[in-house]
Amino acid sequence: MKNIEYLAALRAEVHAWKREGLTVGFVPTMGNLHAGHLSLVNLAQQQCDRVVVSLFVNPLQFGPNEDFDRYPRTLTSDLEKLTALQVDTVYLPSVAEMYPNGLQQTVVAVPGGITSVLEGASRPGHFDGVSTVVCKLFNMVQPDVAVFGQKDYQQCLVIQQMVQDLALPIEMVIAPISRDRDGLALSSRNQYLSPEQRAVAPKLYVALQDIALAIESGNQAFETLTQVATQRLLEEGFDSVDYLNVCDAKTLQPADSSCQTVVILGVARLGQTRLLDNEVVVR
Ligand code: PAF
Repeated sequence: MKNIEYLAALRAEVHAWKREGLTVGFVPTMGNLHAGHLSLVNLAQQQCDRVVVSLFVNPLQFGPNEDFDRYPRTLTSDLEKLTALQVDTVYLPSVAEMYPNGLQQTVVAVPGGITSVLEGASRPGHFDGVSTVVCKLFNMVQPDVAVFGQKDYQQCLVIQQMVQDLALPIEMVIAPISRDRDGLALSSRNQYLSPEQRAVAPKLYVALQDIALAIESGNQAFETLTQVATQRLLEEGFDSVDYLNVCDAKTLQPADSSCQTVVILGVARLGQTRLLDNEVVVR
């Protein structure tokens, strides 16, 4: 496995592959890899001849009061995991390599409803940071296929729209959510949880499943379902619920009875940790 820190070396590597007619898969990450990330790498390996994984904690997508400084950085164990999977290349740019002109640089901003609601409303500027870095990474790696996790459902829609709007020649693959045995969606932020908080955490997924079951059995009172579930999460020990919504799976606007596919999206807090999860329901 090659560890590459500089864009020029990455380009040389990828160009050599392309000259041989090999296809390139790409998995962008912020490191602190867990089984969920590794399942994305597996998917990329199944679809492509060569795979690049990037490890870059992107300052542009964190708000001023968010966890950029304390975001877990575990380079040694990340590299061990990727070596074990026989990944071809890891791209580890510094902030200066990614943003040579500083953070006040050209921004790729996906407009409209899918960026202004939910995470977009809770974390102003977050999606501009994500789409900007992903667009840059796409230009740097020039992959044929890029793999993202469904756990960040809204992020997937935003990047899909960016790919369409900018006519980027990249196929996006969305991998299903990887979960612990008790249902908790795997996330780098789970390690912030105390043992007591960790015991409460899976109840978010239970709430999503309960709502999904009710919808599948014909219940269309989406607001009542989410209000009842929110109240229950607070009683069960969550400190707050940022949102728990049933949305149109394509537009992320509140679902109505005509929606064929809906997504239930929830973010709840245990202490300072935001847990994020979702469940798609085809009606
Ligand atoms: O999902 C993530 O880990 C990040 O948002 C991404 C896509 C790597 C961009 O920094």
